[in-house]
Amino acid sequence: MITDRQLNIVPFVSVDHMMKLVLSIGVETFLTELAGYIEEDFRRWEVFDKTPRVASHSRDGVIELMPTSDGILYGFKYVNGHPKNMKEGLQTVTAFGMLADVASGYPRLISEMTILTALRTAATSAVAAKYLAPEGSTSMAIIGNGAQAEFQALAFKAILGVDRLQLYDIDAAATAKCMRNLKGLGFSIKSCASPQEAVQGVAIITTATADKQYSTILTDNMVGSGVHINAVGGDCPGKTELHRDILMRSEIFVEYPPQTRIEGEIQQLPGDHPVTELWQVISGKLPGRNHAGQITLFDSVGFATEDFSALRYVHDKLKGAGFSEDLDLLADPDEPRDLFGMLLRAQTKGLAQPVI
Ligand SMILES: NC(=O)c1ccc[n+]([C@@H]2O[C@H](COP(=O)([O-])OP(=O)(O)OC[C@H]3O[C@@H](n4cnc5c(N)ncnc54)[C@H](O)[C@@H]3O)[C@@H](O)[C@H]2O)c1
Repeated sequence: MITDRQLNIVPFVSVDHMMKLVLSIGVETFLTELAGYIEEDFRRWEVFDKTPRVASHSRDGVIELMPTSDGILYGFKYVNGHPKNMKEGLQTVTAFGMLADVASGYPRLISEMTILTALRTAATSAVAAKYLAPEGSTSMAIIGNGAQAEFQALAFKAILGVDRLQLYDIDAAATAKCMRNLKGLGFSIKSCASPQEAVQGVAIITTATADKQYSTILTDNMVGSGVHINAVGGDCPGKTELHRDILMRSEIFVEYPPQTRIEGEIQQLPGDHPVTELWQVISGKLPGRNHAGQITLFDSVGFATEDFSALRYVHDKLKGAGFSEDLDLLADPDEPRDLFGMLLRAQTKGLAQPVI
């Protein structure tokens, strides 16, 4: 139940407020605390309403709605994915979302989620790696050095202690940007001339490229035994990053199989290929990595509960902190049936020109 505020006023977290909130907490602390919320929600996976996200595909991209509920709160995210945007000076991924009270249906929070998606994706990747990556992993390749890259690096540093990075992007300017942004943040970083060089000797391989087609960012010969692959960029039908042979050698972990089978790397495999659900590993029902030589693959596509966790975290952090503004979002007359009367009274109060 909502008791602590005027019901018609909904806190709105703008991009400006989100940046101030994240910086006031500190990026690594934010990622660590957010990872805690994500883990907590994976542990209570069974209480959530779950559905593959609702996708509207077009020639150049996809627009998706991602709803879920734990029976007390309801949340959804609007998100797009348009790989061609970057060349036009636009973001590949933008998002916003909301939380609502299930008991009344009244919204509780509306928030920007472009920055929050990058944070939650990185935090989720690091949570998965905590359970799946080789013990004591401190090195990671990042292939695709765009908007997600620095967030991935910092989440893996904060949660696993990764401090050695090998970066590769087909566009050297992206790698240079990433190196510039991560300078002085506690990494030793090597810029690599090829994906082969980037994956040389690392414990974890993150792929975060954007292309609206089947790509082969990693081929089978590039992946040695015992590594953990965090495959972030393949997240749409027809959009994958790994050669099928890598999948055949890997133990595959996914968020929600009905969505991942449509969108993830495993769309390349038969519908009954065995996969393990991440929540089962996190809640101790099934093992994660079970031997040093195993290749573990987190086939990440991004699931609604992760956005729900992120909104829940931001909502908790907002309390009294001044990082939101009030939105007059809901028409909420004192007498619930007198919606029209409220409109009439606005006219007599001079809020609007008479139109009736
Ligand atoms: N799994 C998830 O939850 C999740 C969440 C957010 C974004 N994503 C996906 O992650 C990917 C990256 O997102 P972003 O916002 O960083 O995109 P971006 O456009 O900012 O960056 C993508 C980078 O990949 C590089 N690239 C493209 N093809 C490449 C190749 N063959 N080899 C090496 N580099 C290549 C581009 O030059 C660019 O720098 C997108 O595909 C996006 O849809 C997934």
